[in-house]
Amino acid sequence: MNMPSLKEARKRTNKEVITEKYKKNKELGKTLKNKTFHIKTYGCQMNEHDSENMIAMLKEYGMKEVEDFENADLIILNTCSIRENAHNKVFGMLGRIKHLKGIKKDIIVGMTGCMAQEEVVANTILNKYKWMDFVLGTHNIHKLPEIVEISFKERKLKIEAPSIEGDIIENMPADRQNKYKAYVNIMYGCDKFCTYCIVPYTRGKQRSRNKDDILKEVKDLIKEGYKEVTLLGQNVNAYGKDRKDNYNMANLLEDVAKTGIERVRFMTSHPWDFTDEMIDIIAKYHNIMPSIHLPVQSGNTRILKLMGRRYTKEQYLDLFHKLKDKIDKVAISTDIIVGFPGETEEEFDDTLELVNECKFDLAYTFIFSPRVGTPAEKMKDDISIEEKEQRLYKLNELINKYALENNKKLEGKIVDVLVEAESDKLGYLMGYSDTNKLVNLKGNEDLIGKIVKVKILEAKTWSLNGEYVE
Ligand code: SAH
Ligand code: SF4
Ligand code: F3S
Repeated sequence: MNMPSLKEARKRTNKEVITEKYKKNKELGKTLKNKTFHIKTYGCQMNEHDSENMIAMLKEYGMKEVEDFENADLIILNTCSIRENAHNKVFGMLGRIKHLKGIKKDIIVGMTGCMAQEEVVANTILNKYKWMDFVLGTHNIHKLPEIVEISFKERKLKIEAPSIEGDIIENMPADRQNKYKAYVNIMYGCDKFCTYCIVPYTRGKQRSRNKDDILKEVKDLIKEGYKEVTLLGQNVNAYGKDRKDNYNMANLLEDVAKTGIERVRFMTSHPWDFTDEMIDIIAKYHNIMPSIHLPVQSGNTRILKLMGRRYTKEQYLDLFHKLKDKIDKVAISTDIIVGFPGETEEEFDDTLELVNECKFDLAYTFIFSPRVGTPAEKMKDDISIEEKEQRLYKLNELINKYALENNKKLEGKIVDVLVEAESDKLGYLMGYSDTNKLVNLKGNEDLIGKIVKVKILEAKTWSLNGEYVE
């Protein structure tokens, strides 16, 4: 057992980050060959990409992916800790799987992802979910094939989720879910420690990948026919700050743009580290998409301070307007938390006021959820859940209004769309515009995988309908 520890997870030292290369373990395999697996992925793009790595690793040893968890020899839940409901979903699913395991005794059940790194979760599993086979933390996904093989042999709960600061493992294979768009991690972990957030504890210290490894990955993706990369990290603007090579996010964006890949996106940007140099680079390169996710969290400076966000409302607005002025047709999206401990009605109104000023293209809105071990968990919170729900409702009404208004401006216009697949809407294809809007379009199937011009005919709140023009 290698249990996660909250105390250890809080620590940040100057210990040097080691980069290791993943290698297939030749000793493994016989037990795994031809067994089936199913991975359920919760949470953010980081987890989605981890799942792509895990799927590829298991396939390397001859395992076969199945669509239905009920038909799998191995079930993995790749979990998220960000809010209470993410936890609840996973424990709900575990209830169903326990039932299944009662009938099919031979199946192996494992947990990976952020919940695996939580001390409280590991303890709960140890006490109440002993029937599970393994818990594997975020720093150790490269050990997945080994722990799976041991599980098939031993069938005894193993927890391998130490709260170490983590190294970087290069060369992990990836079974990418999309043929045209790829996620590329540029950094792991987070050192911002916003007071409500669990990520710095579950993902460890900020570790930026070596630029040459990133650029090589992008170039390889181009060769494989990918049109778009999304550079991933918890706050990508801080890329490189933990390294000694004086190479920052602006440099990386420029070099990735220069590889010639048709579309570059990046997420998430914390307003704190957004430099003018970065803005200039985004404005200069046509293949860096004019779409920025810039979480504000709150429109009130006192709340922002309590959240540990390190900017004021005014500083956020300055940055917002600078981006709008300097980057042609940029779309800006955001994240907002309502009902942070102690948030008054007036302070919430400041958030509405900020939304009225920014008129975001898209926003993800959440009710504050206390996370074990974070400073905000201990803050006095006397707002009722009904009140919080009302605030969320009011905020969403406003967000939806502006999302539709922004989309309406595109009616009659021609936008570039990377066509990905057939749409859920019968007879239509789907793809995303340069500003990251979902577009359903009429056109022939051979457009799939291409960037084409689409005339927008109808705007909805969360999507656009259009037709292929060239
Ligand atoms: N690294 C990103 C955010 C990752 S988490 C950033 O800093 O912008 C995604 C979003 O979840 C956050 O932006 C925040 O709005 C929300 N979130 C995080 N912790 C939360 C909590 N405890 N309760 C409610 N929402 C939370
Ligand atoms: Fe969480 Fe803040 Fe880090 Fe984002 S920047 S992952 S909100 S601690
Ligand atoms: Fe969730 Fe972990 Fe991502 S907590 S949002 S899966 S980094």
